[in-house]
Amino acid sequence: MPDQQRKILVTSALPYVNGSPHMGHLVEYIQTDIWVRFQKLRGHNCIYVCASDAHGTPIMLKARELGITPEQLTAGYSKEFVDDFRDFGIEFDNFHTTHSAENESIVGSIYSALSETGDIYTRTIEQSYDEKEGMFLPDRFVRGTCPRCKTEDQYGDACENCGATYSPEDLINPISVLSGTTPVTRESEHYFFKLSEYEERLRTWMNEATLDKNVAAKLDEWFDAGLRDWDISRDAPYFGFQIPGTEDKYFYVWLDAPVGYMASFMNLCERDNSLSFDDYWGAGSDAEVYHFIGKDIMYFHTLFWPAVLKGAGYRTPTSVYAHGFLTVNGQKMSKSRGTFIKARTYLDNLNPNFLRYYYAAKLGPTIEDIDLNLEDFVARVNSDLVGKLVNIASRCAGFISKRFDGKLADTLPDNKLFAEFVDASEVIATHFERREFSKAMRQVMTLADQANRYIDENKPWVMIKDESKGDEVQQVCTQGLNMFRSLMIYLTPVIPDIAERAQSFLGEENWHWNDASAPLLGSHINKFKPLLTRVEVDQVQKMIEQSQETSPVANDVKANDDTISIDDFMQVDLRIARIEKAEPVEGADKLLALTLDVGDSTRQVFAGIKAAYDAESLVGRHVVVVANLAPRKMRFGVSEGMVLASGPGGEEIFLLSPDAGAKPGMRVK
Ligand code: 2FM
Ligand code: ZN
Repeated sequence: MPDQQRKILVTSALPYVNGSPHMGHLVEYIQTDIWVRFQKLRGHNCIYVCASDAHGTPIMLKARELGITPEQLTAGYSKEFVDDFRDFGIEFDNFHTTHSAENESIVGSIYSALSETGDIYTRTIEQSYDEKEGMFLPDRFVRGTCPRCKTEDQYGDACENCGATYSPEDLINPISVLSGTTPVTRESEHYFFKLSEYEERLRTWMNEATLDKNVAAKLDEWFDAGLRDWDISRDAPYFGFQIPGTEDKYFYVWLDAPVGYMASFMNLCERDNSLSFDDYWGAGSDAEVYHFIGKDIMYFHTLFWPAVLKGAGYRTPTSVYAHGFLTVNGQKMSKSRGTFIKARTYLDNLNPNFLRYYYAAKLGPTIEDIDLNLEDFVARVNSDLVGKLVNIASRCAGFISKRFDGKLADTLPDNKLFAEFVDASEVIATHFERREFSKAMRQVMTLADQANRYIDENKPWVMIKDESKGDEVQQVCTQGLNMFRSLMIYLTPVIPDIAERAQSFLGEENWHWNDASAPLLGSHINKFKPLLTRVEVDQVQKMIEQSQETSPVANDVKANDDTISIDDFMQVDLRIARIEKAEPVEGADKLLALTLDVGDSTRQVFAGIKAAYDAESLVGRHVVVVANLAPRKMRFGVSEGMVLASGPGGEEIFLLSPDAGAKPGMRVK
């Protein structure tokens, strides 16, 4: 028997609604949904809320680019999330949005509580500003050359090549990705939350919370490094909530996002009078609150969030459960490989319960990444769900319907064997409780093997030929179906649709976890219809092809990809150019300034080829130039393109030249 009824509130991270849901998102929502369904099946009072994360600069800019309002943009994508989640069987008790009245009101009261306790202060900071766009730039919106290793075209916060972290102002030749202009540094007053004052309280929380050891280790690391105060404001223009008492300051999206958990719950309370907000969020709450998140947002959930809650007088989370990232076929998802699979594309081709099972078979409680290997997916689903599990029922059901009028026997022939299925109940439940889903799945499949062995040994299809063994066949099949039934009950949180069909085949309703321990005897079952069909490799292949087809230019994953699409390539305008003039640049020891004839115009390009070429020898030579590269402002002037060359650098640089006959302006294809 499970312990007394628990009061549990569960959340998954609120998805940014500026793109479609994909297989990566689903790891978390499926993981959480399985856990929540498990709790409900055990008879606990478990509420699962979520919302769309609707604020922030990327959403504001994407809407602007599309010529719509952020509200329109987020409403469109929220609908996609809601529809796709529903079709994957992810059952929220409420799905709200951070751009809501409830959220604005709770954020406002938290802010005023923190102001009263003296946890908020203002400080003037310097930040990159795009004069053309009239806005301050988040770090990721500035690119330039890494100040440490000198790799070009790096983000404003960290270098992908050498791992250095810095601020955008430290970049060499910084460029705003919005306008292509050089940002200036401007001062602005920002609002800060005194996280540094919360170390003791956070340490206490950390010891109370049942954190996975990886998460606790991360927290220790952050404590060792020292907690820094948190900048919670952003300047207009910004899509978010205005800070009360200011004209042009907004709360940073990461302040109001987790508050969205509370707001979604409050929205649910408005609909359901039996629920009280304070019961769950008040400082003295006896409810359990769990946040399921990805490992990349632990800092926000284990430092900022509990500190803000404590400071504002609310309860803190019981725990924060972090998971790893998804790889597909061992690599990052890639649009060109067709492994950047949208949730909808999967649904168009495959049974959602299959993915739920596969993820469950892979998931554990740690932040280790999980891999969706598509070949293994096909094999695992076919062998476990079709070959082992459903096979138990299909081998027994026919005899019961045809020969015994659908009636199960009144007793089990092998109570000892059934007892093994009952004994496993608490072991499997503990695995679910601890998010050891892969262990739970292994245990269930081991039992399924045992059930199949039992049927193999008893051979009802042979016995049925012997008139005198009628009762025995009914009993053996009743035994088989009961083993199937217990396993299906254990798997209900994972494959709810299949379990529901199994339940109605067995003539039952509203399974409870404990039902698995009491056999179904003497009752009538319905005619068995195949519960599922095998996955075919072709279906997976089709899904991959559709993912390749439907993908627009792979902007957001390009950096992780080792191939580019033909569309990507065609975007690069390569042209033949003739070097009209070449001269050294004063103050730059590696550069030559080249004046290029590109057919319809001339342009200036700075090339780092001085050590390899004598300037004069280049005049008249034909080269290949990237003609549509955004102009880059350098210390010596603007460079309007790039000349192609190969070689390691220094004196060993070899310019690429066309065969004779190529003329300036010709497109290189
Ligand atoms: O990282 C993200 O996708 C965020 N939108 C998650 C927010 S979780 C919570 F804090 F709202
Ligand atoms: Zn670097």
